[in-house]
Amino acid sequence: MDASRANNKLFGPNRFKLGVFSANCDGGLTMSLAPERWRADWDDIVAMTRIADEAGLEFILPVAKWRGFQGKANIYGRSFETLTHGAALGALTQHIAIFFTVHVPLVTPTFAAKAIATIDHVTHGRAGLNIVCGWNQEEFDLHGVTIDQDRRYEHGLEWFRVWSRLLEGGPEFDWDGEFFHLKRLQTDPVSVQRPWPVVMSAGFSPKGRDFAAQSADVLFTTMSELDQAPALLANISTHVARYDRRVDIYTMSHVVCRRTRREADEFYHYFAEEMADAEGQSYYRRQRGPVVKDAAGNEIRRPRVNRFMRASGKRYDGAYPGAFPLVGTPDDIAADMAQMCEMGLSGTSVAFLDYLKEIPFFVQEVLPRLRCLGLRHAA
Ligand SMILES: Cc1cc2nc3c(=O)[nH]c(=O)nc-3n(C[C@H](O)[C@H](O)[C@H](O)COP(=O)(O)O)c2cc1C
Repeated sequence: MDASRANNKLFGPNRFKLGVFSANCDGGLTMSLAPERWRADWDDIVAMTRIADEAGLEFILPVAKWRGFQGKANIYGRSFETLTHGAALGALTQHIAIFFTVHVPLVTPTFAAKAIATIDHVTHGRAGLNIVCGWNQEEFDLHGVTIDQDRRYEHGLEWFRVWSRLLEGGPEFDWDGEFFHLKRLQTDPVSVQRPWPVVMSAGFSPKGRDFAAQSADVLFTTMSELDQAPALLANISTHVARYDRRVDIYTMSHVVCRRTRREADEFYHYFAEEMADAEGQSYYRRQRGPVVKDAAGNEIRRPRVNRFMRASGKRYDGAYPGAFPLVGTPDDIAADMAQMCEMGLSGTSVAFLDYLKEIPFFVQEVLPRLRCLGLRHAA
């Protein structure tokens, strides 16, 4: 690893990396009407991030959103823009890596290079780019931009190539590609991390996996049950093998950690089933990206059904699709994470119904267990 990346915890020694996802948005990572749900108040975001920072978590990852999921809760209706959110949090923290989720069709690679280099200097090398190519046209209507659903990953790859070459530095260059025709490209300062800051890509489809294999250090993807991990990882590794690169795989999880399993199960049932915002969930399903197909043209189902849904036959519409339920006692959660790590996942994001209220118990009870299991070191 290049020494310039030593300050970025994504490259640190923990075998199983952890970060907080989606706390920049109202509702966090749920579709629940529960009144206890996250409201994305700025001071709460800062207080929660400082706890994560001091506890040694690896990263903060915000969602890029321009319109809510409608429904009664209008989850995501209120959200903080991710580059400005990251710059502020970067100045208020010491150790944690700060990601920005950037929509390729909305931000030019030259703007993103300068903005991210700026934050990489503010944070002394803790910046991270999460590239997303867009899926919900209604969010792009606010910008007058149309997503090219068939070619969004080709566009994303060319965007990444311009962005990364800018940050590599060197003499001015022109770019005459398929999507970009740019003159006399340069940016100064370049990033602290060399050749550029850590890159994550969030996607699920074969094209998304291939994109990550060519551009990202981390592929952030979804898995609803632990037994899906081997097939998921085997498929992703076929993409990565084509490019002779290393890509770590993280999944996204929702944590309900309580003293007893019963308490945890009941709380998950409360916010995700009893208080589900079914209208928000229907909006998501209606708007969700194009149908995903494999190379043979077969439709691939996105993972959605988790063990709670399977056991009860209920929909748990208040849970975010694809968020793995880490629900149980601190021992249960540490054991699930150990299994994820054993299967080859390099990390997971965590989310909570109320991040600020729930993260202290997670930090106090789960992190020491992960240390005992050899998955993580002390902060
Ligand atoms: C873990 C994860 C996080 C994501 N975060 C965002 C986001 O912040 N903003 C966004 O517009 N899309 C986000 N997406 C959507 C993806 O970028 C992508 O558009 C979607 O998964 C459909 O792409 P696919 O065809 O590769 O599955 C996320 C997806 C995943 C799996």
